[in-house]
Parts: sequence; structure tokens; C-alpha cells
Amino acid sequence: MSVTTKDKTDTEFSSGLLQFIEEWKDKPGNLIMILHRLQQEFGYLPRPAVIKLSQLLGTPLAKIYGVVTFYHYFKLTKPGRHNIQVCMGTACYLKGGEDIIHEIENLLGIALNQVSDDGEFSFESVRCVGCCGLAPVAVCGPDVFGKLVPDKVPEILAQLKAK
Ligand code: FES
Repeated sequence: MSVTTKDKTDTEFSSGLLQFIEEWKDKPGNLIMILHRLQQEFGYLPRPAVIKLSQLLGTPLAKIYGVVTFYHYFKLTKPGRHNIQVCMGTACYLKGGEDIIHEIENLLGIALNQVSDDGEFSFESVRCVGCCGLAPVAVCGPDVFGKLVPDKVPEILAQLKAK
């Protein structure tokens, strides 16, 4: 995922987002659609943005957080500059996806869904990313790393950091 909203404040909504909210405001089941769009805008769901959304929709903040915390997809903390997604779908799991996760944990000193102290990396486990033939796989933005072994992880982290 690339977040291109570096200079944006957490309450500054693009005109596209505002238009999307306007279009979906009164439709049934709108909240999840709008939260997806909001997360797309910021890369996660910053609290000030969620408060603003609650005001725009006239929906209680508690109700929005109820939805946000129910679905794993939604992120309440800002991801690292590089958010690595390690596939734990069946093929990747069977081919050692868990070893990749342990290696990343060891090297970065963080657990799944945490962000490294320097803000460079975060990582999460995801379900099948659609290239099982390359299992085990990790994805970071446009980069797909296939047939991974733990020994390759330091090189990948260095590559990403240099970007
Ligand atoms: S299970 Fe990992 S890519 Fe399909």
C-alpha cells in the first residue's frame, strides 16, 4: 500500500472522499463502504478523521468504532512506511509462511500489526494473495517476494529501506 497523503492533516478530506460520503450517506450498509474509502485516503483510520466522519454522517462515534474494531481489515494505527503483508493462506502456510513471520519479528523486534520504532516497517498476515505457485509469499506495495526463505528476509528489508 502506498500512502500518498504525507502532508495531509488527519481531518483534511479530499473532494473525492467528500463526494463519496455524500453519495453513500443515506444508503443502507453505507458505513463499511465509507470506512473503506476513508482508510484508502489515509492508509489507516486516524481518530480525528473518524470523529469528523461521525459528525458528517450524524452517526455516533461508538457505533463507528464498533464496526472498525469488529473487522480486522480496518487499521487504527498508522502503518510503517513499508507495510509488509505476509501471506498465511493455505499454500503459504504449508510452505513455511510462519517461519517468514518469525524471521521478520526477530529482525525488526516487533510483532505482527506493530510498527518499528523508526516508523519504517509494519507487517501483517493476510490470506491468499493469488500467487500460490510462489509460496511462501510476502507483498509490499507493488513488490511481490516469492519462494521466500528466512535467509532472504534481511536482504528484502534492506531493499525496502533503501527505497
Ligand atoms: S496461499 Fe499464499 S498466495 Fe495463495
